[in-house]
Amino acid sequence: MDKPAVLFVCLGNICRSPLAEAAFRDAASRAGLSVETASAGTGRYHLGYPPDPRAQAVARRAGIDISGRKARLVTPADFRRFTHILAMDSANLDDLAALRPADATAELSLLLDHVPGRAGQSVADPYYGPDDGFETTWADVTAGAQALVHRLSPQLK
Ligand code: 4NP
Repeated sequence: MDKPAVLFVCLGNICRSPLAEAAFRDAASRAGLSVETASAGTGRYHLGYPPDPRAQAVARRAGIDISGRKARLVTPADFRRFTHILAMDSANLDDLAALRPADATAELSLLLDHVPGRAGQSVADPYYGPDDGFETTWADVTAGAQALVHRLSPQLK
């Protein structure tokens, strides 16, 4: 199988999807799984901006530097370039389904669909909440990332 190419998508591309990408890269590296990754947003609010300082802080506490990332919009071409597109919440999933071109090859799902017992659940948007919401976000995206690495790693089956 080709190397998985995995795109994580949220609304602003400054909180949840950069954290999900970071958690997934970390989990894949620990499992010895070679992957390509990126993240993107469905909204234009923060294009070109680095991740929210609260997201950078929670990643830094896990030993991961996401400060160099810049927010970008998801595009129809992403549905051909990536093998898997993971939406953080059901609104992102609806927006992605509407954007999906007829010749899409990427598999589209919610990140938490891959976590046993959490299918259909959203990673809550922490943007307007208190700082500790980012700890919950980190726990959720880490659970999703680990489950996804397990699914994509032939040697773990
Ligand atoms: P994200 O968080 O989708 O996890 O990056 C948000 C960032 C910005 C906004 C909403 C959510 N906003 O409304 O500006």
